[in-house]
Amino acid sequence: MRYLKSAVGVAAVFAMSFIIPAQAESFQAGDIDNGRKIFMEGKGDAVPACQSCHGAGGLGQDDMGTPRLAHQVFAYEIKQLTDFATDKRIDNTMGAMNGVAKGLTPQERRDVITYVESLKTPFLGSDLKSLKEDGVDVGDRSRGAMIVEYGAEGIVSCKSCHGFHGRSAGRIFPMLGGQRYVYLLNQLHAWKDGTVDNGRANDPMGMMRKVAATMSEKDMQDVAAFLTGALPYTSGNPMAPPRGARGFELKNTGGSH
Ligand code: HEC
Ligand code: HEC
Repeated sequence: MRYLKSAVGVAAVFAMSFIIPAQAESFQAGDIDNGRKIFMEGKGDAVPACQSCHGAGGLGQDDMGTPRLAHQVFAYEIKQLTDFATDKRIDNTMGAMNGVAKGLTPQERRDVITYVESLKTPFLGSDLKSLKEDGVDVGDRSRGAMIVEYGAEGIVSCKSCHGFHGRSAGRIFPMLGGQRYVYLLNQLHAWKDGTVDNGRANDPMGMMRKVAATMSEKDMQDVAAFLTGALPYTSGNPMAPPRGARGFELKNTGGSH
């Protein structure tokens, strides 16, 4: 356990110091108006509108298995589109994203991600009650919270890389708090599979494959149940999230869940 913890810690430091500067150039912001157009209307016959699957506010949809994109980390999202375009990551959910990414130029990808990163659509997480009613297995949120913040027997805490409540540590570490339940679970299954064709293997230095290998189905359901509703702050905590943390504008809007 101690070995695993230090191994992933070292991997994270390596990734931060080498991978990021090497790719920094491609992470310049794009043209937000062109990005909005692509998101809303698509690009001719080549690329369907992103909103048709990811929702107009960019919040994703559990019944399609699409992720929330709104306010996700810019550099992380650019990397995902690049990985889809080069088949390093395969969309095993709808078989759509590889074609979508290939249909956009690198500049257009930057444009559309500049737009989705700017979206601050309020969101309190997937509606776990109605997912349960639809027959989806939903995990135990309080046990999930323990794993996310402190880790568990054999599992490294998610916080060590993804930040408090999965609010992101910036750059290569995506925001998980406020992500869709179905999507989170799909990705954890994909990391555990660990192959490019049937799973997901585009994580720097195998960081996520190592973590997922230590998790049971129940562990995955529990962390996903917690993370989808995890706000990037605790109420009454006057400490502002660090610079670069995502989604801290989220407010309780009095939604049903
Ligand atoms: C036909 C439906 C569909 C359309 C259209 C679509 N997407 Fe997706 N997108 C998906 C699905 C499904 C996934 C999840 C893939 C998986 O499970 O691995 C996804 C994943 C992504 C991801 C990865 C997010 C993450 O957290 O890793 C990004 C980024 C993305 N889409 C951006 C876009 C953009 C930008 C557009 C428009 C140019 C777009 N998508 C259009 C269905 C779609
Ligand atoms: C050693 C660092 C590290 C730890 C610890 C870690 N992650 Fe990750 N995780 C990453 C990195 C890096 C990525 C982005 C991979 C990529 O570039 O596609 C990621 C991506 C993910 C994704 C995909 C997000 C998306 O939008 O597609 C999920 C889900 C995830 N992690 C869940 C977890 C959970 C749950 C835990 C705790 C049990 C955890 N991670 C612990 C480094 C880590």
